[in-house]
Amino acid sequence: MERGVVAEGLTKSFGSSRALEGLDLHVQEGTVGALLGPNGAGKTTTIRILTTLDTADTGQAFVGGFDIARQSHSVRTVIALTGQYAAVDGDLTGRENLIMVGRLYHLTRAAAKRRADELLERFMLGAAAGRLTGTYSGGMRRRLDLAASLVKPPGVLFLDEPTTGLDPPSREELWTVVRDLGREGTTVVLTTQYLEEADRLADHVTVVNHGRAVASGKPAELKATYGGDVLELVAPEQTVADQAAKLLAHRAGLGESAIGAGTVAGRVNVTVPSGTYSVVDAVRLLDAENLLLDDIALRRASLDEVFAALTAEGASS
Ligand SMILES: Nc1ncnc2c1ncn2[C@@H]1O[C@H](COP(=O)(O)OP(=O)(O)OP(=O)(O)O)[C@@H](O)[C@H]1O
Ligand SMILES: [Mg+2]
Repeated sequence: MERGVVAEGLTKSFGSSRALEGLDLHVQEGTVGALLGPNGAGKTTTIRILTTLDTADTGQAFVGGFDIARQSHSVRTVIALTGQYAAVDGDLTGRENLIMVGRLYHLTRAAAKRRADELLERFMLGAAAGRLTGTYSGGMRRRLDLAASLVKPPGVLFLDEPTTGLDPPSREELWTVVRDLGREGTTVVLTTQYLEEADRLADHVTVVNHGRAVASGKPAELKATYGGDVLELVAPEQTVADQAAKLLAHRAGLGESAIGAGTVAGRVNVTVPSGTYSVVDAVRLLDAENLLLDDIALRRASLDEVFAALTAEGASS
């Protein structure tokens, strides 16, 4: 029996808005799985369903070996959830917050204190343990929130956008603790909008868009499969750059979603599958149409561009 997470064909509508349209997800026990998707992709909805805060319209899922529909009570005993918005009590100190959670789990006062101190140390909050959490930075609050969900070690830990809104150093600190949890064999399901985050933390990534998994695999596999070449076009006039980009995308069988605006007027990027064009091919093609550019450069797509291409409006697979 798989004790990680297996979801098949989850659907969920809110009125006429279809949040999930047959989402599949598999996170093996003892691994870190990432749901990677843009705003509104259905990440939080998926997490809410898997953690029994909401129910799916159709489809089925097992979490920690339990059926979310028929064994929701058992599911709740083996999971922990850290939400998209931190939920610690600002009028208590960090230490008091964790002790309170321990007491809610029926630990003795002494055991709750011990556990609180262990977690504070581990999440780099030892020095701030006695401060009211209302005075914590966003990064400290997220770490305390994560610590709170580990007071009773969960079978499956769900993290909804654990680092959104954090500055780079706080993000790095949180990544360190999540990676350590993964190494220790905690099953973690996290959501993120950042490909870099999925790449750094996850063993397996599922890219979601419009309520569906549009790609999934190890980060390296995704890069190899969906990576591409970016042609950077520089023209004397924007209209020429736009026409050139359209032609190159069209000849590669791609729609306008392959075209990205450059940062300066007269510059446009086109992302195409690896090996579609050499610079010489592209120049010849454009010359034949009398599209004369100042410059064309070819480079490998970055991870963010791969993600953007996979989740572009209208992208289906
Ligand atoms: N309670 C609700 N009532 C109505 N619509 C909802 C509700 N919850 C979610 N939706 C809609 O379902 C879709 C998916 O939302 P969801 O919150 O799951 O996305 P998300 O991937 O978590 O996005 P974000 O990155 O912004 O957190 C969106 O179109 C959203 O507007
Ligand atoms: Mg969300």
